[in-house]
Amino acid sequence: MCGIIGYIGRRNASQIVLEGLKHLEYRGYDSVGFAGVLNSKLVIKKDVGKVDEVHARLNFLEYNLKLAIGHTRWATHGRVTRTNAHPHTDCNKRIAIVHNGIIDNYEELKKELISKGHKFRSGTDSEVVAHLIEENLVDGKSFEEACFNAFKRLEGAYAILAIKNDEYEIVAIKKGSPLVIGVADHGSFVASDIPAFLNYTKKVVYLYDYDMVFLKPEPVFYNIGNGVMLKVERPIQSVEWDAEKARKGDFEHFMLKEIMEQVDTVQRAVAQDKRILEKIVGEIRRAKGVFLVGCGSSYHACLTASYVFSKVAKEHVNVILASEFPNYEHFLTEKTLIIAVSQSGETYDVLEAIRAGKKRGSKIISIVNVMGSSLVRESDASLLMHAGPEICVLSTKTYTSQIALLNLLAYTLSDKYEEGKRRLKYLWNVIYYLTSANTRNKIRKLAEKLLDKQHIFCIGRGLQYPTAMEAALKIKEASYIHAEAFAGGELKHGTIALIEEGTPCIVFVSEENAKEILSNAIEVKSRGGYVIGISPVNSEVFDFWIKVPECGTENPIVQIIPIQILAYQLAVLRGYDPDKPRNLAKSVTVK
Ligand code: G6P
Repeated sequence: MCGIIGYIGRRNASQIVLEGLKHLEYRGYDSVGFAGVLNSKLVIKKDVGKVDEVHARLNFLEYNLKLAIGHTRWATHGRVTRTNAHPHTDCNKRIAIVHNGIIDNYEELKKELISKGHKFRSGTDSEVVAHLIEENLVDGKSFEEACFNAFKRLEGAYAILAIKNDEYEIVAIKKGSPLVIGVADHGSFVASDIPAFLNYTKKVVYLYDYDMVFLKPEPVFYNIGNGVMLKVERPIQSVEWDAEKARKGDFEHFMLKEIMEQVDTVQRAVAQDKRILEKIVGEIRRAKGVFLVGCGSSYHACLTASYVFSKVAKEHVNVILASEFPNYEHFLTEKTLIIAVSQSGETYDVLEAIRAGKKRGSKIISIVNVMGSSLVRESDASLLMHAGPEICVLSTKTYTSQIALLNLLAYTLSDKYEEGKRRLKYLWNVIYYLTSANTRNKIRKLAEKLLDKQHIFCIGRGLQYPTAMEAALKIKEASYIHAEAFAGGELKHGTIALIEEGTPCIVFVSEENAKEILSNAIEVKSRGGYVIGISPVNSEVFDFWIKVPECGTENPIVQIIPIQILAYQLAVLRGYDPDKPRNLAKSVTVK
């Protein structure tokens, strides 16, 4: 994870890097750091804390620089300390680097460099990169050559930016971790993600693995995948994302803004080119074995889809957590279809899963929000969610977009494209009502009641079971209250032992399974549980009722929205920042 940004050009690089770091904070916020060049000396500022806190202490804007790089960290190797914060430097403080990813062979490299006299300061894997570049600055080798020779030795996943005290240049390399170039008339940007520089330019260059870029300030592209520096052309593309969408506007948090946006984002998700949908449906029909893979909320969207595919299209799909996919790889053949679902398109485990499939000749389809991401580029075909940038670490709008798209696929697969589209279009009204001030106020009252609870249980049957899982995840991530989901029928096989006087249990009810799930709710209630019903109609078993109109196969889209709001309000009432929950990062680019 971690976010990196660099700028070189006529504008004030300190200002641009500071802004970029704020936009990248969703990728990690353990510590933050900044390096630039002033009068042939490196200026380095770094410390533990979030961008605003560290900036308030160290003043990143002290100098007006024409070249700077920055890093916001999600710790992997080495504890959260100032010394471990990036940038890292070589022995003589002439080279500074920032790194996102993991250098797998860092121990071996570190040993070698120490034996050659290098002095290490941090406990990170990343510091080896600075020393390795320094080690290669011998025999009159240029900074660029030294970087090339150093990068050739790295194993693992990395996006790295390197600068040197006496060079007007940023050297960048990417392998396995995301990195994108931004091009403006006043200079060039390089960052982990587009929102980092979207205020300045919409012209971007997507990089391939082993691309090495010299920004001086115009970018010059090489690929070093074959062990030589091969000059390559990379096209400049325009992004459709709007800088405004990456700002909070009047909202206190991105999470609430993104929850509210679902009125539009679900509609945007289903505005797809029918021909692409039909092409994908053709692949599903031809396939012998369809796997849906994803992580976190994206995995819950896959689980939801498995019910809809079964119900609507009578199609069996295997749903596998991307991190568990290696256990199923021996089933893969050239007839297998893998549908990878990911907001970022950069999740390491998802990329590893599709790469395993590609090795065996399987077809890869992806459902992604971030255009130009690795997953899009490595897939045979992709459906973009068009949800706009999702900044809050917790996924909300992209979760419902994923389900909307997967539902539309299921309906298209059963030759009911028009019906699928109509059903999804109808949701506009329902989501409008669910995100209205009235509903939010009602849910706030519930949040006030649940504020000090230690555990919350969520139950559902059928399509409502994955919704219960996503609900528990949202509550945990945002509020740090322990929440757990169960299939309604499973409750009495153990978990009911945990129900005590006042234990909250959120019950997701649909017309189809009302009788069974309400009887589970009664079992909870008779043991003193506090029953919260997410249901089209009220029931005497509910202690608290949130009305969500019946939407059949689209219930998973609408039923999660009140819980997204509940999770948000619980976080705020408990004094936490829902946009940046502790220990989490939005884009998990490590194993
Ligand atoms: C992280 C995020 C989750 C997200 C998951 C998968 O854990 O915190 O919100 O669901 O990654 O991310 P993806 O980008 O692949 O959907």
